[in-house]
Amino acid sequence: MLVLGIESTCDEIGISIVRDGSIILSNSISSQVDIHVKYGGVFPELASRRHIEDLIPMIKKSFEEAGISPKDIDLISVAKGPGLIGSLVIGMTAAKTLSLAWDKPFIGVNHVEAHLYAAMMDNPRLFPAIGLVVSGGHTFITKINSIGSYELIGTTIDDAIGEAFDKVAKMLGLPYPGGPQIEKLALKGDKTKYLFKPGRVKNSPYSFSFSGLKTNVLYQIKGPNSKPNSPSIIDESEKAHIAASFQNTAFSDVIEKTLKAAKEHSAKAIYIGGGVSNSQTLRSLFDLKCENNPVYFPEKGLSLDNGAMIAGLGYHKFLEQKISDPYDLEVMTRWALPS
Ligand code: KG4
Ligand code: ZN
Repeated sequence: MLVLGIESTCDEIGISIVRDGSIILSNSISSQVDIHVKYGGVFPELASRRHIEDLIPMIKKSFEEAGISPKDIDLISVAKGPGLIGSLVIGMTAAKTLSLAWDKPFIGVNHVEAHLYAAMMDNPRLFPAIGLVVSGGHTFITKINSIGSYELIGTTIDDAIGEAFDKVAKMLGLPYPGGPQIEKLALKGDKTKYLFKPGRVKNSPYSFSFSGLKTNVLYQIKGPNSKPNSPSIIDESEKAHIAASFQNTAFSDVIEKTLKAAKEHSAKAIYIGGGVSNSQTLRSLFDLKCENNPVYFPEKGLSLDNGAMIAGLGYHKFLEQKISDPYDLEVMTRWALPS
């Protein structure tokens, strides 16, 4: 079965054609970093305007790369949410229009569920499992009973981990998106130099809080009770130590909670998805600390937002007969995983 996947939830368009849920025939992503870098984050209106320009040429290119034509595909799968309203609407409108014009079935899938699916795409599927989502918009631990059946175990009560990376990067004067910049700078730093504390959430041992950690880092860089736009009071040479110490605190926190949850729920595997799972440092730390369970990450290129994970998950939903109606399906800016 050939599925066209359309991802447009935030500041990237991802278009992909995937066979039978896991064989990728084409996968292209449009980066908008050039537009958003000067704002230090995503400017929603500009993101959706660029989506309009990029989408159709990218779909054409995806068919060329896969060596097939629209009549060959069996399903169109689109990220229905969660995400930015303007961005979501562009992908959804394209998917609805193509579904009607080409007379192909159509399905809307959950972007965050697709991030977890990316870690299963090319890996054995062992359930029950523990899933960890670490992205720019989400951070949570869930029990996975099967693809499509989840039980939330813990979630962030404030920032998502990727958002914390982006904000700390900004404090350090690094450009957007900050996560990869922090990882790079941290390579030159001593991760034990600053003893930052991970966030704890009362009565919720698997939940996360990154705002206290972020404030500790801010005060270290700009002085006690400073504001995000206050001037820096540290030497350039200290920045790498702060980046390394912050990264290590945040990663140790997610790893510790994930491994504990895996033990408590007798998980057969751990699946990790979302943009922050692109971090080689996070991958190495998990491999080092996890002795009892296999830990699966997305293949290269599938950690960040992409259309392949949307096509792959759409294939599974189609097999469960969860077809959407092109006329009445609406986008969802907020959307929890199905239970
Ligand atoms: O999943 P994603 O592409 O978009 C959302 O759905 O949010 O995640 C983007 C996030 C950004 O916050 C970015 O800074 C972070 O992933 N990220 C990283 C790394 N690469 C991307 N964070 C830490 N280390 C990295 N190497
Ligand atoms: Zn994402």
